[in-house]
Amino acid sequence: MDIKQKVENLQSEIEKFEISNKEQLESFRIKFIGSKGALKELFSELKNVPNELKKTAGNIINSLKQQTEELYSAKKEALEMAYEKKESLDFSRPGEPVEIGANHPISLVRSEIISIFERIGYTVSEGPEIEDDWHNFSALNFPPEHPARDMQDTFFVEQGRQEMALRTHTSSVQVRVMENSTPPIRTISPGRVYRNEAISARAHCFFHQVEGLYIDKDVSFADLKQTLLYFAKELFGEKAQIRLRPSYFPFTEPSAEVDVSCTICSGKGCNVCKYTGWLEILGCGMVDPNVLEACGIDSEEFTGFAFGMGIERIAQLKYRVNDLRLYSENDLRFLKQFKSAH
Ligand code: PHE
Repeated sequence: MDIKQKVENLQSEIEKFEISNKEQLESFRIKFIGSKGALKELFSELKNVPNELKKTAGNIINSLKQQTEELYSAKKEALEMAYEKKESLDFSRPGEPVEIGANHPISLVRSEIISIFERIGYTVSEGPEIEDDWHNFSALNFPPEHPARDMQDTFFVEQGRQEMALRTHTSSVQVRVMENSTPPIRTISPGRVYRNEAISARAHCFFHQVEGLYIDKDVSFADLKQTLLYFAKELFGEKAQIRLRPSYFPFTEPSAEVDVSCTICSGKGCNVCKYTGWLEILGCGMVDPNVLEACGIDSEEFTGFAFGMGIERIAQLKYRVNDLRLYSENDLRFLKQFKSAH
């Protein structure tokens, strides 16, 4: 058999060889390409070929070698790809569990308060946390040097050459709303506020408030009471009752402190309400005419009421969390407990 014939036989053998897995691929390599393979053997037979035919014989063996190697790499690549595909697209694999976070209790309570007031037509307004004296104090009927300023220990900061305050309440936002709109006004202002207090379980240097404001013709104290009763029932349940105790704020007259019937003992007396049956939840009052005038609203034509509450305080009552520091420590063991709350 001459060498040409041998090359043709080998070629058809190569073409027929089945390669459908890695083992077959490896046998193919050993059988045809490897150092003891059929191609090597053919090359070694070249020495028996007469000189004048050597060049042509060499060429055809070489081109078969090239073909074989190309076939080998193509098959190898195809097998690797199929393997990888199988790896990445295993539809029978159970899904990776998705980690669902939890809303912060302050956010939960804030959203709930907002939605209760939105249902009776209140809009949400926001303002800056760094405030000037006018919006935090003066417009709210705190004259300079008025001792009432001491009620709210203020952090002062320099902004440019101006002395500014970190707002001590979100009443400052309501001043801005009154300055920039005409009654009827019905708005709530949720936000973070700051007071210079030593941090303990019962006090913090910042906390969150929602304050509300309603201004229109003929707004009365009865409207205020009814609004707050509706709010307490929505938040704490149909059985909730409220009571008002006289109080003092520079920006409201008359002013009151509002208690809700104890959410734990329903008024019978327990250690949470200190056996009084009542829990204090907010401050409120009729907007002082001086405040309306300072904000450009005619106090002869319009009256209004305002109220303000601490979100942490409400969260404390709802979730029985008694240490205020927990709300800002970001301890996952605490935060994870609110996963099912909404
Ligand atoms: N601004 C008061 C505070 O921060 C709360 C309040 C608001 C009281 C509106 C009465 C009316 O303590």
